[in-house]
Parts: sequence; structure tokens; C-alpha cells
Amino acid sequence: MKVEKMEQELKEKIDFQKVPGHVAVIMDGNGRWAVERGLPRHEGHRQGVETVREVVRCANELGIKIITMFAFSTENWRRPAWEVNYLMSLPEKYFQTELPELIRENVKVNLLGDSSRLPGKVKKAVDEGTEATRNNTGMILNFALNYGGRSEILLAVNRMLQDAREGKIKGKVNEKDFNRYLYTSELPDPDLLIRTSGEKRISNFLLWQLAYSELWFTEVYWPDFSKVHLMEAVYDYQLRKRRFGKV
Ligand code: FPP
Repeated sequence: MKVEKMEQELKEKIDFQKVPGHVAVIMDGNGRWAVERGLPRHEGHRQGVETVREVVRCANELGIKIITMFAFSTENWRRPAWEVNYLMSLPEKYFQTELPELIRENVKVNLLGDSSRLPGKVKKAVDEGTEATRNNTGMILNFALNYGGRSEILLAVNRMLQDAREGKIKGKVNEKDFNRYLYTSELPDPDLLIRTSGEKRISNFLLWQLAYSELWFTEVYWPDFSKVHLMEAVYDYQLRKRRFGKV
């Protein structure tokens, strides 16, 4: 079927009043996409940035309120130096071309992760993006960079212990209190997690926040992921019965 026809059909089926508010994405398969085409792995990442551009645009059009993209994990430092360097050049490239549109579209950019270990140029690019969109009130675009779910939870625990020592915490903490110490702070949990490339794991992404998220997997490699796939995921999400432990 032609892409335009698929898009039209999905448009008719999707209930635009019930689009998932927060969508988290594990962008996987860049390397395999490149290797299968006889290209160097970095070509997959380069194309992956194009997909990020398209998906952010489409998420905004569909009315998704928050999109959280897993761009670099705390474990990705174990890749060869050239690949780490290449991945670290991407935020700068992305913001150089996309920032004017993000500002115009009222998108608010956030960083989730430990920024202390990021190279200066990455921190600068993300800080500029965050700063320039600080007062925007539209879709929130979170980039998880040097992000790990376990280290986020440990950081939260250690910050809480510090606050307890300083007498800022009295008695027991509940889930709402704990949430405030996470990178996602006051944001609602993801309603939907998308992972591309056929892998079916969470890979240390948003471990606390994904507790009740709907999971959607596709065989499609990230560089081939497009608007139609995002719409398919949204439609499939709408067919799910979310019970949150109830009957
Ligand atoms: C996983 O594919 C992908 C990554 C580790 C990097 C994801 C990053 C992007 C798509 C671009 C980020 C864009 C911005 C703007 C920061 P893989 O390399 O593990 O693929 P493989 O499993 O096929 O080898």
C-alpha cells in the first residue's frame, strides 16, 4: 500500500482526543541499517538524526504533549571512541538546523541525564536549546543523553539522603516525593514506549517511569521509522485496555 494511503487510513482511525500524552522512544537499529546497505555505521546515526527531525515534527502534529528520545545511554561510552565521538557530534548538528523551528513551534527542550560527563560542545548545544525554548509552552522534547535508569534512581536516592541529613525530609517519602528527585521531576510517566529494530528490552531506560507504560515494538530500524509507524503505534496504543492493576 502507498504511504499516503496508509497515512490517510490511520488518520481516519486514530482518535485525536486520546493521543498518548507522553511517548518515550528507544531509537535502535542505526548500525544494522547502515551495515545492511554496505555503509559505515555512522551513516546509520546520520540518517537517524533525520528520523529524529521527522518524528519530532509528527509528534507535534499528532498532539503528543511530551516526547522523550533515548539518544545516548550511560553504557554507550563502551562503544569505540570514533563512534562515541560521532554520536557526540549529533546534538550540535541537530540544534544548528532545528532550533529556529523548535522555537517557532513552541517546543520546549529538556535534557535528561548526567550532563557533567558530556563534552563541552554537547553541553553548550543542549544548554542553548534548553535556554532558547525555556518559556515555550507547547510540546516537551526530552533528550536522554548520558542517561541510565539505575543511575537516575541512585542519584535520586542520594539526593534524598542529603536532604534528609539537612532536615528537609521528615518521616517517610511516598512515590510523589520520590518523583521530584528524578530527571523527569514533575513530568507524567510515559503512556507509550516505542522501541525500533526488533529488540524487545528496556535497556536501562526510564526504569521507574515505565512501570505502567504500554510497550510497542517494531522490526523497522530507526533510520526507516517514519510518520506512518508513529501513527501505527498511536493507533495500537488506543486499542489497549490500560488497567493499572485494576480489573
Ligand atoms: C542505537 O542504534 C542508537 C544509538 C545508540 C544512538 C541513537 C541516536 C540517534 C538516533 C541520533 C540522536 C539524535 C540527536 C539529535 C541527539 P545502534 O547503533 O545500537 O544500532 P545497532 O543495534 O543496529 O548496532
